Amino acid sequence: MKLCVIGTGYVGLVGAAIFADWGNFVVGVDIDSEKIERIKKGEMPIYEPGLSDIVLKNISQGRLTFTTSIAEGIKDSEIVFVCVGTPQSDTGAADLSAVWEVAREIGKNMNGYKVIVTKSTVPIGTNEKVKAIVKENLPDPSIEFDVVSNPEFLREGSSVEDMKSPDRTVVGSDSERALAIMRRLYEHLNSPIVECDLRSAEMIKYASNGFLATKISFINEIAQICERSGADVSVVAKGMGLDRRIGPAFLNAGIGYGGSCFPKDVAALYKTSTDQDYDFKLLRGVMEVNIAQREHFMNKVLRHFGKNLSGRTFAVLGLAFKGNTDDIRDSVAIEIVKRLRGLGAVLKVYDPQAMYNAKQALGAVNIEYCLDKYETMPGADALFILTEWKEFGLLELDKVKSFLKSPVIFDGRNLLDKEKVENLGFTYFAVGKRTNGLVKIDTRNLYQTVLLNTNGSIGHH
Ligand code: UGA
Repeated sequence: MKLCVIGTGYVGLVGAAIFADWGNFVVGVDIDSEKIERIKKGEMPIYEPGLSDIVLKNISQGRLTFTTSIAEGIKDSEIVFVCVGTPQSDTGAADLSAVWEVAREIGKNMNGYKVIVTKSTVPIGTNEKVKAIVKENLPDPSIEFDVVSNPEFLREGSSVEDMKSPDRTVVGSDSERALAIMRRLYEHLNSPIVECDLRSAEMIKYASNGFLATKISFINEIAQICERSGADVSVVAKGMGLDRRIGPAFLNAGIGYGGSCFPKDVAALYKTSTDQDYDFKLLRGVMEVNIAQREHFMNKVLRHFGKNLSGRTFAVLGLAFKGNTDDIRDSVAIEIVKRLRGLGAVLKVYDPQAMYNAKQALGAVNIEYCLDKYETMPGADALFILTEWKEFGLLELDKVKSFLKSPVIFDGRNLLDKEKVENLGFTYFAVGKRTNGLVKIDTRNLYQTVLLNTNGSIGHH
């Protein structure tokens, strides 16, 4: 089939590459000409395991090309995918300006029947508006087209695998003609295809991300009770996750969820609920818990070291918003680094992939960028683990102990084995596990009050 993919971010670039790898002819479009030139040379704008090989292979086999022109991209295409960004706006809602702009351009350049498919995460009703905009801009009103909502569920860091073998594919449309074309594209997949109306498809995406975020906030609250009562949240999560109705995924307690998707999608879903005169109480709680979680982590540091951290040096492992990515957008790790620095500490930091992005975000003041995880440690007053990179769970603890000035670890991702660490004489602060030797402390009054603004965004007071 002949396809066009507009937007070469995570969703668009991975989508274009895999569609081509399935044997389709794909044109990728992006307004950023520099980015297009880099991709053509095999330089991926994002770190995504396995992606550059697939892109290069399909370019060289002639199935994958790139352009900066939407007109050129859609000319011969049967299906046009819209994969542009929908960042969070000031109101908490998704900013859809890029989607509207692309819809106008597609409309103006339509030269025959095409299926226009939105993959970007967009609120309910967006595809209907896309349809109206395309229609308004058609050069000839007799040209036919259909719109489809085909949300993606890729996780950064494993998006190539997720795209190749998804758990399910959601295709929303009110046109049998469009559905038949989409079925042809996805027919070889061994997982269910959910065909539904446009609005339900749009909602499935938000509901899925909202539910996963709820799982994380749920286990983070269980972690709070575990810490106070002496249970161990990792053991609790394991025991819960073995129930097939619950499942083990997304039950890792930590410093809260971050990234370019969950915070924005949860806020947008909440905004949708208030727009419909409904207060999605559970989701409001999910957002509050997520912010409170990092405050709770910071409070542990302040209780241990006091509120003035000047003269302290900390080793920090992990800057990306999660493991296996170089992405630092809405990274809780970055925020914690900023907070520690703001209180006077010097940070020696390391991340396997996110160093370049972190440098842009954090600058050089009181931050030393290290080439290796152990290089962060000599002379440090404590070690912080802030991102769930697998290799941080495999640290050689004897070495860590010999490097650190004092054997203190704040493990924001529960990567280390509490018993092992404590047997070696570390003071170990994890999440949802009681720290040995510390009496139960009532932390309730230490929290910053987290207020939810009426517009759905979160602020601290
Ligand atoms: C998420 C969804 O998982 C994808 O299905 C979806 O397609 C994507 O958003 C999107 O909407 O585009 P992603 O943002 O790549 O994917 O990251 P996740 O793996 O979902 O992790 C999100 C955050 O939750 C990270 O900060 C991670 O550290 C945190 N997390 C995750 C936890 O704190 N605990 C867990 O158990 C799992």
